[in-house]
Amino acid sequence: MNIILLGPPGAGKGTQSRRLMDRYNLRQLSTGDMLRDARSFGTEVGELVSASMDAGEFVTDDIVISLIEHEISGSSKGGFIFDGFPRTLGQASALDNLLKRTKNCLDAVIEIQVNDGDLVQRITGRYSCSKCGEVYHETDSPFDQSDKCKKCDSSNLIKRADDNASSLSIRLMEYYKKTSPLIGYYYAKGILSSVNGLLDIDIVEKNIIKILEN
Ligand code: AP5
Repeated sequence: MNIILLGPPGAGKGTQSRRLMDRYNLRQLSTGDMLRDARSFGTEVGELVSASMDAGEFVTDDIVISLIEHEISGSSKGGFIFDGFPRTLGQASALDNLLKRTKNCLDAVIEIQVNDGDLVQRITGRYSCSKCGEVYHETDSPFDQSDKCKKCDSSNLIKRADDNASSLSIRLMEYYKKTSPLIGYYYAKGILSSVNGLLDIDIVEKNIIKILEN
């Protein structure tokens, strides 16, 4: 099974990807995580994308497409869950071609809907584990930044450099301008479904599972 999670920054794509990945034995492909890894390893790509990421702007299509191309050529028995990719019509068409070339197809595209006001609160309060990527929020109870990650026991919960109000307003503009046309693109292909991302995390997960198992 190959699925895409679509939604604005903070909609819960990463949170739900990790849950679905475990349940269906999928490989999560998050271009945001790949780009952050490239930065922390100091690669050429990392240096190229640093400034745009901090500003909240998209990096160029050719960079993210080549990252995905590299990953897709590796195997994943259960399939892939695309988190934060594609984000432009150019990326969507490149993904169609890559999947066709590897004799695969997309089974579902799930749009997670959340309004802008809630996104600000989610993004500015987010912490993530620097080791395994598990995501937390400062309103999670109990939450303390000095606590250990519940998943991998690492004691390094960090805030992302682009998780601030000014970068978020650019990220949102980028989303509405360049990514929202994908909703029509996948609707026309008959594989788009939407879920209310304002509900509790467990309920959002159940609703996505219902769609996938229907
Ligand atoms: P990326 O890392 O993909 O960031 P994003 O799309 O902005 O998405 P986020 O990771 O911020 O949010 P999310 O939807 O995963 O939410 P999460 O589950 O963490 O990209 C970063 C940058 O890289 C981009 O700005 C761009 O520069 C570049 N980039 C990446 N991919 C690219 C591409 N394809 N093309 C071009 N450029 C690219 O949840 C957020 C918070 O909310 C958490 O605290 C969580 O606990 C909480 N939460 C989640 N669900 C719920 C719920 N149901 N109720 C209450 N709280 C919830």
